[in-house]
Amino acid sequence: MPARKDKILVIGASGQIGVELTLALRKQYGNNNVVASDLREENPLLKGTGPYVSMDVMNKEMLHVQVIRQNITQIYLLAAILSATGEKNPNLAWHLNMQGLLNVLDIAREEKLHKVYWPSSIAVFGPTSPKQLCPQQTVIEPTTVYGISKYAGEFWCNYYFNRYGVDVRSIRYPGLISYKSAPGGGTTDYAVEIYTEALEQKKYNCFLSEDTYLPMMYMPDAIRATLELMNAPADQISVRTSYNVSGMSFSPKEIGASIQAHIPDFTMTYKPDSRQQIADSWPQSIDDSVANKDWGWKPQYDLSLMTKDMLENLRK
Ligand code: NAD
Ligand code: SER
Repeated sequence: MPARKDKILVIGASGQIGVELTLALRKQYGNNNVVASDLREENPLLKGTGPYVSMDVMNKEMLHVQVIRQNITQIYLLAAILSATGEKNPNLAWHLNMQGLLNVLDIAREEKLHKVYWPSSIAVFGPTSPKQLCPQQTVIEPTTVYGISKYAGEFWCNYYFNRYGVDVRSIRYPGLISYKSAPGGGTTDYAVEIYTEALEQKKYNCFLSEDTYLPMMYMPDAIRATLELMNAPADQISVRTSYNVSGMSFSPKEIGASIQAHIPDFTMTYKPDSRQQIADSWPQSIDDSVANKDWGWKPQYDLSLMTKDMLENLRK
């Protein structure tokens, strides 16, 4: 069980993962012990559930002041620029994804924080990595600026752990699907948009081709994976770069068929754009046996269970 005295700062709390992770952490640690922060305004779902500060992770001085002032002992860093947006502005993506992480790791070292969480991504893998059941350790040659920044970030985490003893933990999330907060510019965003379009328009024009398989995960599994990793005893964590975790793997055609099982007149068309090239560079499925062995990771949601839950919740 987590120590009760911990006080957490979530950076990027208004984003797709941040909203749900902040709410889950508030349930675990108590509302006032989880400070949400973001560059943009507080997400409406967070309003009234706990403290919020407006903050730019690039402003190291301000971040440091907040950590001291609020007696922070753990940081969850979610602020980043994702794969598709990153290709539009590679310099900005590199700058935010790297400097934001280094600011947090430096402050964690100086203030002797208990733990840091920072997510990596399946985007670290490139066209030379195995397509099926891509292993924890393999050839890794990313081709997007996002993937390069995540892979470099993994090694900075490993460095701060080995050199300074910072207890930083990480997961290579697959594409995440959720209904509470909108996704922020990734290649896997189609798998969220498709549900809202199916309910509103009964049709969806997909930006990936029909047989593009990608690793995906439903948000409740992603939040549970994060909490399980962060609550695991330190001596069980053998990977200090980032853990592969797997949820499910499907193509646009298959997610379309799972929606048609609930909305029979739903139709799909396909118009691949520049995101197709990014998707084609990634593996289709992930081997997560190391996460399973170290801290017991097992996903609960498959495609049909997720579709049922997404449609029920979006209809509400
Ligand atoms: P998101 O874009 O939805 O949210 C990121 C949040 O960070 C936004 O609210 C944004 O306003 C905030 N932010 C941006 N710049 C900031 C700054 N300078 N200071 C403070 N806040 C800033 O992203 P997400 O999907 O929630 O992703 C969170 C993390 O998880 C990222 O590191 C991302 O790479 C990783 N990840 C996400 C997915 C996914 O499918 N969503 C998959 C793999 C990895
Ligand atoms: N969902 C993310 C993206 O597509 C993967 O990290 O960028």
